[in-house]
Amino acid sequence: METLERSSKVHDEARQGETFAPFKNDSNQFKKKFLIESYGCAMNFADSEIVASILNSEGFGATRNVEEADLILLNTCSIREKAEQTIRKRLTEFRKLKTARPGILVGVLGCMAERLKSNLLEEEKLVDMVVGPDAYRTLPDLIEEAGTGQKAVNVLLSRDETYADISPIRLNSNGITAFVSIMRGCNNMCSFCVVPFTRGRERSRDAQSIIAECKDLFDKGFKEVTLLGQNVDSYYIAASAQPAGEFKGSKASDADAITFAKLLEMVALISPELRVRFSTSHPKDITDDVLYVMARYENICKYIHLPVQSGSSRILQLMNRTYTREWYMAKVNRIREIMPDCGITSDIISGFCTETEEDHLETLDMMAYSRYDMSYMYFYSERPGTLAARRYQDDVPLAIKKRRLDEIVKLQNRLSQQSYKADVGKTYKVLIEGNSKRSEEAWSGKTSHSKVLVFAKQGFDFKKGDYAMVKVTSTTGGTLIGEIAGS
Ligand code: SAH
Ligand code: SF4
Ligand code: F3S
Repeated sequence: METLERSSKVHDEARQGETFAPFKNDSNQFKKKFLIESYGCAMNFADSEIVASILNSEGFGATRNVEEADLILLNTCSIREKAEQTIRKRLTEFRKLKTARPGILVGVLGCMAERLKSNLLEEEKLVDMVVGPDAYRTLPDLIEEAGTGQKAVNVLLSRDETYADISPIRLNSNGITAFVSIMRGCNNMCSFCVVPFTRGRERSRDAQSIIAECKDLFDKGFKEVTLLGQNVDSYYIAASAQPAGEFKGSKASDADAITFAKLLEMVALISPELRVRFSTSHPKDITDDVLYVMARYENICKYIHLPVQSGSSRILQLMNRTYTREWYMAKVNRIREIMPDCGITSDIISGFCTETEEDHLETLDMMAYSRYDMSYMYFYSERPGTLAARRYQDDVPLAIKKRRLDEIVKLQNRLSQQSYKADVGKTYKVLIEGNSKRSEEAWSGKTSHSKVLVFAKQGFDFKKGDYAMVKVTSTTGGTLIGEIAGS
């Protein structure tokens, strides 16, 4: 049953422990090498690219080879207990390495560093550095400190750090798609969630720096950007916070503020050839304005990740999600009304505190109602310090949590099958991301509604980064198979 803890195939959080190196192998110019492994959500993966940039300017080059690393960094996740266990296991492996090569430094970055702070140094002997998500600018100093044998810790959270001026070094990139962080932290207090404690207060990154980064990516040949934040729809830059001349008229007013809808439009206008995605949307914050902007621009992908968490209004209230079952359903209706072909996916938690069989059935019913293309599904894992841990008892037995999760997964598999089958016979515009994993004779790319579509090259002259019109001929349930219909 263990595998059910996390059951989606291709989620960012499933990309556990990816080791990163720049896609161009230019690391030989550096005397010292660092290896960074990233765990958790896309935000962490984006942060690792910021860290790489900071380290690069200090003369460290990235490597994937543990043997040649002088510095080993783990960018960690605390979202569920299992995520932390994975990291602890990895640290044990590095402990052995450090016994053999005492000169190397081991650092823990990210959410687990923030949650456990210097306790981590007590618990995990031989960790030299503990660095929270807002303290990466101090890494060079911390490395120096750790190099002299002191334990180096910086877990200060910031109200304004967005790393806006740091140009991320794209790690492990396909050269076509990239993450662009637009905000940090989270002001929601979903009672199950540790993120507000590990990432701090929400803050939006200056819009001009976001646009500049996206333009730069496009100039370098990238064709798709995913705007990232824990709650992108609450992106907001007040008019008064913008550089002079950015808004019309002499006085800054609300109308000149940059909302997420405006930002999305600004990014979409960079080029019709640049696809735009975003993640994640909290159902309470995604506005009609955002939906209309999505509908207006062909290059904004018709895909919304809209985590429901539970289908029961009573549980949603305990989770502090601030919407009801009916409210969420109305949002799904609105999305389908404005964009009939929009993909919708979700996150679902089984067995939250006090969840009854009836609540669970409401979750299943909600899934069928929303017809999710795909979901990320978990059983509830109590996190110390969260509202739920303080207020409620984690009273659903593990066996029941897992059985309910199993039912959720089975239903989602059926819904995904239906959703993918419904695409057979249709023609989609696909952004080619590279060769199919199975064969060099086939391309793999994504549709606007975020499904992977694999198709034979058939002697056509396409290359990575091109758009192709592809007709879907069959499906495996998680992938679409097709043939070229044009360009
Ligand atoms: N900011 C995003 C979610 C970030 S965490 C949002 O609001 O949608 C990703 C997912 O992990 C959550 O949507 C939730 O489904 C799951 N999750 C978070 N805390 C959890 C916990 N304590 N136990 C189980 N799953 C959890
Ligand atoms: Fe966590 Fe809720 Fe914030 Fe998402 S919106 S990061 S689930 S507190
Ligand atoms: Fe994990 Fe932190 Fe992301 S807890 S899910 S890495 S914000």
